[in-house]
Amino acid sequence: MSKPIGIFDSGLGGLTVLKVLAKNFPHESFVYLGDIARLPYGNKSPETIRKYGDQILRFLKDQDVKAMVIACNSASTVYLGEKSFEGIPLLNVIEPGSKAALEISGGKPIAILGTSATIRSHAYAQTIRRIHPATEVTEISCPLFVPLVEEGVVHNEITDLVIKRYLEQVKTRKIETVILGCTHYPVLADDIRKYLGQVNLVESGEVLTREIEALNLAKHSGTRQIRVCITDVTDHFERLAQELMYPETLGPLEKIIL
Ligand code: DGL
Repeated sequence: MSKPIGIFDSGLGGLTVLKVLAKNFPHESFVYLGDIARLPYGNKSPETIRKYGDQILRFLKDQDVKAMVIACNSASTVYLGEKSFEGIPLLNVIEPGSKAALEISGGKPIAILGTSATIRSHAYAQTIRRIHPATEVTEISCPLFVPLVEEGVVHNEITDLVIKRYLEQVKTRKIETVILGCTHYPVLADDIRKYLGQVNLVESGEVLTREIEALNLAKHSGTRQIRVCITDVTDHFERLAQELMYPETLGPLEKIIL
């Protein structure tokens, strides 16, 4: 079997990305590492995120991956512009996400939703303005979205209230392109669409698919293996992982110590 692609996230939210990549590349093998034990990254400093990130990228390198994808937006902000890590090609979600949003919006305003770390870094806004300086960008930190998804509190009146609180300004300003700048937010995509109505949501999984295709990284025949490793395991995480990957089925999660 040829070398797998490594995927790194702070927790299980990145499975929303793995799910899309697994569907779009049915012959490709993946090794996923979710740093559950230290989640969330979204409220941590760039120095701490970098320290954790380097450990994880080394773990993935040891699994003999051919490329590494930082699915975690908070972590992507601290590796912005870095195209490799210790000789292995490195992909993040900020640059391709920004380009995709600009293509969709055609110069019209863009809203960026993310964790505190992602919004504080202004990584998306700076990347968008570097490519198209006139674009009007609205950055919104949505710290309650991650715990709602982690706890499975979705598609109900609590999520509706939180969505309204964070996204009211998107609705009032009639912004039509919204970057879901966090691994967990695709789980809320239907709820967000319900509130905003006609809107283009930019999701990391699709954006990374195009990037992997452009770099010709994936193989297109043969059997594959998907490994999901996490730094802490409980029944809750086993269940959540299966739910997030549905209808794809996962083998048992592997607990690893970094
Ligand atoms: N994976 C993180 C991100 O995409 C969300 C969860 C966290 O805060 O660690 O920013």
